[in-house]
Amino acid sequence: MEIRTVGVVGLGTMGAGIAQVSVQSGFDTIGREVSEELGARGRATIERYLSRGVEKGRLSEAEGDAALGRLTLTTELTDLAGCDLVIEAVLEELALKREVFAELDRVTRPDAVLATNTSALSVSEIAEATGHPERVVGMHFFNPAPVLPLVEIVRARESSDEAVDAAYRWAERTGKQPVRCNDTPGFIVNRILIPLLNDCVRVLDEAGVQPEEMDKAMANGAGWPMGPCALIDLIGIDVHVHASQALHAKLGEERMAADGKLGRKSGAGFYSY
Ligand SMILES: NC(=O)c1ccc[n+]([C@@H]2O[C@H](COP(=O)([O-])OP(=O)(O)OC[C@H]3O[C@@H](n4cnc5c(N)ncnc54)[C@H](O)[C@@H]3O)[C@@H](O)[C@H]2O)c1
Repeated sequence: MEIRTVGVVGLGTMGAGIAQVSVQSGFDTIGREVSEELGARGRATIERYLSRGVEKGRLSEAEGDAALGRLTLTTELTDLAGCDLVIEAVLEELALKREVFAELDRVTRPDAVLATNTSALSVSEIAEATGHPERVVGMHFFNPAPVLPLVEIVRARESSDEAVDAAYRWAERTGKQPVRCNDTPGFIVNRILIPLLNDCVRVLDEAGVQPEEMDKAMANGAGWPMGPCALIDLIGIDVHVHASQALHAKLGEERMAADGKLGRKSGAGFYSY
């Protein structure tokens, strides 16, 4: 299926960035926000970044205007009925995302691809809220979406090859560098990067290292473009801690506890009793 019209649900930090990527790549894009004010704010963010691109000579003024002209705003999910691909970027709450997907499933054509930009939730659990889980995939962009090339294309339990391929090809057409992966906690980059950054923080204390020296060490010894302390500051310590907790909850012993596997006292832990 040829993707022509794209819907973006939520024009916050990620949604505005994703909508910008889409309009700059020539796709008619419908952005849905919960209120007209928030929609206008999302459009203003995109306009600001496009103008900055014009100032820096990355695109012409005419290209910037044309890109913005491809964006339409709505507060109604039903206005996404004609979209070939819808990317959801609302708050990181499972119940909310499931609600949005159930509604998207009702209003869009059955062959439209529905993608979530979730960082840490299970794409499969979001897909289960629809009657067509085979057309649901993850498209995990990185912040800022217009700048960072990677998009993780996540295959959920029931995603079809067609849906995964359509999302992958669309990401390529926007100039991104997509990679495919299964629906596992943290996908690829966060699964590796978050524990690694936490180890860097522990080493500060263990090895008696100052943040500047840690950053110098990793930049010069491991070739990191930015040291771990500067990177955590950029991500935001609150965002990083939240991501760490979400990952930890899905891996190892916390997941066992949530499943009621408490060891001998519950009859099951690593062994069965
Ligand atoms: N910020 C990042 O670095 C980053 C990176 C990758 C993925 N993500 C993921 O992207 C998604 C959005 O994150 P963000 O940082 O853009 O958040 P944000 O707070 O900037 O935006 C949240 C969006 O959710 C919408 N929203 C809030 N309540 C809603 C409701 N009841 N119904 C419908 N929409 C509602 C808001 O209007 C807004 O558009 C999350 O799933 C997040 O995990 C974030």
